[in-house]
Amino acid sequence: MISQLRGRSLLTWLDYTPQEVTFLLNLSRDMKERYYLGERVVNVHQGKTLLLIFEKPSTRTRVSLEVAAWQLGMRTIYSNPQELQLGRGETIEDTARVVSRMVDGVAARVFSHTTLVRFAQYSQVPVINALSDECHPTQVLADALTLWEVKGRVNGVKVAFVGDGNNNMAHSLIAIGARLGWDIRIVAPKGYWPSRRYVEDAEDVGRRTGAVLTVTDSIEEGVKGVDAVYTDVWVSMGMEKEAEERMRIFKPYQVNQSLMNMAGEGAVFMHCLPAHRGLEVTDDVIDSPRSVVWQQAENRLHTAKAILAALIR
Ligand code: CP
Ligand code: NVA
Repeated sequence: MISQLRGRSLLTWLDYTPQEVTFLLNLSRDMKERYYLGERVVNVHQGKTLLLIFEKPSTRTRVSLEVAAWQLGMRTIYSNPQELQLGRGETIEDTARVVSRMVDGVAARVFSHTTLVRFAQYSQVPVINALSDECHPTQVLADALTLWEVKGRVNGVKVAFVGDGNNNMAHSLIAIGARLGWDIRIVAPKGYWPSRRYVEDAEDVGRRTGAVLTVTDSIEEGVKGVDAVYTDVWVSMGMEKEAEERMRIFKPYQVNQSLMNMAGEGAVFMHCLPAHRGLEVTDDVIDSPRSVVWQQAENRLHTAKAILAALIR
């Protein structure tokens, strides 16, 4: 499996088979166990470099990738496009051709997913999506590990994503859930449902893995009996202009005690963070014993290690 993963980019889980995702999930768990046994440093990439280019701010993704790279023996260079010649108009393609002759991997956080696709096309080294408007693959691998830990199984877990069903988190949960055989419910107002590309992929992959995708605007129907209620911000980075309208539209979809009661006793609460307390989630839910958000955040490190260990050549 490693030989088929080495050198690959990770732009979206749509490009990966269920077997490949399962392998990376198992490797993540292994990395975490080794970490807790005291083996923090797994020197598989000594002397190599990871370049991080971030068009938007980041806490979890940046720190997890930098720490993960370091623990694998790599060094990192962090930059925003303004500090590179990109900011003065050098093209994505030329930048990719140049830096990929010097570094061993690139992690990029971009406004437009197309930027990543163009970069990867001209890069000689793996490109890792550190969040785009379309999807956030490194986050959901950590979420899958968290669900496995708290529910004790991977296949068949029921996850309801409540909120903006067309955003990067919703898409990523659909893509990874389809590959891991989840029962995925996207609970969102009409007009904010997932892109057809992700829905069609889930239907196709689901025929092989047993995954089922439901898209609904009914909170009650969507969250009843689930293992996890997942939410994310109503206004993603780059969508600030739509903030006022989104606040109004998503208000009924706030994850509060009454929504968690509808979900039932077995449901944990999940959020990729950062959270906007009092908007998409109330304090009494995110700070409750049912909340696994800090475990999700920690798992960013172990999963980042698995991704870099496997994909960097
Ligand atoms: N969840 C997540 O990606 O957080 P950051 O924006 O802090 O990286
Ligand atoms: N949907 C959010 C996720 C942040 C990790 C955003 O794109 O801003």
